[in-house]
Amino acid sequence: MWGGRFGVAPDAIMQKINASIDVDKRLYAEDIAGSIAHARMLASRDILSARDAAAIVKGLEAVRCEIESGSFVFRTELEDIHMNVEARLAELIGEPAKRLHVARSRNDQVAVDFRLWVRGACDRADAALREFQRALIDRAEKHAATVMPGFTHLQPAQPVTFGHHLMAYVEMAGRDRARFADARKRLNECPLGAAALAGTSFPIDRSHTARALGFERPTANSLDSVSDRDFALEFLAAASIAAIHLSRLAEEFVIWTGPQFGFVRLSDAWSTGSSIMPQKRNPDAAELVRATTGRLFGSLIGLATVMKGLPLAYSKDMQEDKARTFAAADALMLAVAAMTGMIDDLTVDEARMKAAAGAGFITATDLADWLVRELGMPFREAHHVTGRIVRRAEEKGCDIAELPLADMRAIEPRIAKSVYAVLGVENSVASRTSFGGTAPANVRRACRAARAKYL
Ligand code: ARG
Repeated sequence: MWGGRFGVAPDAIMQKINASIDVDKRLYAEDIAGSIAHARMLASRDILSARDAAAIVKGLEAVRCEIESGSFVFRTELEDIHMNVEARLAELIGEPAKRLHVARSRNDQVAVDFRLWVRGACDRADAALREFQRALIDRAEKHAATVMPGFTHLQPAQPVTFGHHLMAYVEMAGRDRARFADARKRLNECPLGAAALAGTSFPIDRSHTARALGFERPTANSLDSVSDRDFALEFLAAASIAAIHLSRLAEEFVIWTGPQFGFVRLSDAWSTGSSIMPQKRNPDAAELVRATTGRLFGSLIGLATVMKGLPLAYSKDMQEDKARTFAAADALMLAVAAMTGMIDDLTVDEARMKAAAGAGFITATDLADWLVRELGMPFREAHHVTGRIVRRAEEKGCDIAELPLADMRAIEPRIAKSVYAVLGVENSVASRTSFGGTAPANVRRACRAARAKYL
């Protein structure tokens, strides 16, 4: 490409460190789409003849077919996807191919290719997260009234329903989708035509190429156009937050599938055995989803580190953007698919969940609330009285729901038999009807609302 200026071929190691084709060949479709849009725009401005443009478009489509059929030979000495495609185009159509690279540079070319790819990745993440929400909502609807312990500090806190717990993740995934949508909106400007860094003296029409490639408008500053990778950073940040959410659910699956909890069971299709311990059913997929955060944060911090302190405009450091972003996108898609698969697969042990929900004096808050509501006691005092009743139950080795009325009355004489109505876990969850609360009726309503909003 630059043989005019150079006398000697690059050193083998120089070639090795410089080449990016192994990674950026994934951009072939975007690269060809960008070149087709560029050729058509050049023809519309009489920078290229209509005949040459037509030959170029046809040739690029042939290159795309070769790549998709697997017959294309990628060559490391041609460095990257841009030069591989262009060189093959020249082999196929000859002279007109040499006229394509006018009023552009690989700097704006890679910027547009990569933006297009990340835009597609935002759409793919959105679709996968939507399917994840679908699985959660389906499950939540079935278990709107299934009681389980709700936790704080991983200690039983108050009973909730399993449906309510799952719907918490629907909210998280909703915010994740909004973050991808927001990143997509901001990235949807076209850098093509910024050329190397300063723009071009040719009378190009940047709005033409922007429109053709589905962008809202051309980017406003040529230096920024070729040096900006915010769009990849934003994608990686959104993906990292999504991975955090997935890792939390994955961790809960690890806890819930363990024999000590036994709340849910994954089928053989989603479990692994041990080579030495025959009794084992390990939740490997959940553990690997939990670990996906490592890859995602690595990509985010890695690219942020590459970009930090780079002078304007393009520097070759930026070639390091793609491997990380591709790896992160792949890992995220796999993790979302795995979580979705596990949610669809799991069986719920309702009896165990309910038994666990009844343990640990979990309706103590309900008792305190009853004292406030029925006796007009200030909550702080009710908290204290309830604490004494819990201690009494603990001494007797029973739950507060099983504690005889006489024991309660010894602590607070005004307590009536009706208190037992709020002490069962089912009564407890049914009473939590405040907006966003765990009552089964609320959960059913939340599922309907989420279906309408997200699916
Ligand atoms: N392969 C390069 C990259 O990924 C393309 C841009 C090369 N530009 C340059 N001036 N060397 O960043």
